[in-house]
Amino acid sequence: MAMAAASDRYTRVAVALHWLIALMVIGLIVFGLLMTKEWMPNRFAVYQLHKSFGIAVLVLSLGRLVWRLRHRPPPLPTAMPVWQIRISHATHWLFYGLLVAMPLLGWAMVSASTLPVPTLLFWLVPLPDLPGIGESEAAEAFFKDLHEIGAYLFIALIALHIGAALKHQFVDRDGLLRRMSWRRSPAKAPRP
Ligand code: HEM
Repeated sequence: MAMAAASDRYTRVAVALHWLIALMVIGLIVFGLLMTKEWMPNRFAVYQLHKSFGIAVLVLSLGRLVWRLRHRPPPLPTAMPVWQIRISHATHWLFYGLLVAMPLLGWAMVSASTLPVPTLLFWLVPLPDLPGIGESEAAEAFFKDLHEIGAYLFIALIALHIGAALKHQFVDRDGLLRRMSWRRSPAKAPRP
């Protein structure tokens, strides 16, 4: 199958944003699930960090979305079947949707909270409440449920995404993963 040529790569900005956001989202999911447990040490600090990194993901993802709309991604391997291309596009846009929706749902949840707990992003910047969201236990529970459902959707999507990347790397051996690598070295010849 065709290997990706050196020019068929994502831009360095897209690559940097992809891996930075991926790392932050995985951390947010792992620590998000852990911090809700009573036994988690330093829970207050972990909650504050969760909210800080969550808002950072929102800012970076909006930047990434703007970059993506202005820079066409490299073409997919020509041998890829149409159904895989459709799933790949759908997954990518679902990722963008979740990357924006998840932080907004978290932000809406804390805005609706009746507890007087202020959020200081990275212990520096106070996070204001989202406008139009009144404090109410029902609204907080509503956004909390959606935030939790979003988290499980995220986990499923990440599993699908990693599974597909591994299949391309080790089964199809079509060099797709290299498109998202930092190194710009020319692609090696495919193994027969
Ligand atoms: C991409 C961004 C984010 C991801 C992937 C994420 C992920 C998670 C996960 C997996 C949980 C545990 C779900 C549960 O078991 O209830 C959680 C809980 C929570 N998240 Fe996020 N989150 C994100 C952004 C945010 C933001 C921006 C805020 C607030 C500004 C926030 C506030 C919270 C709070 C307060 C909880 C705890 C809810 C509880 O006490 O049960 N999250 N998050």
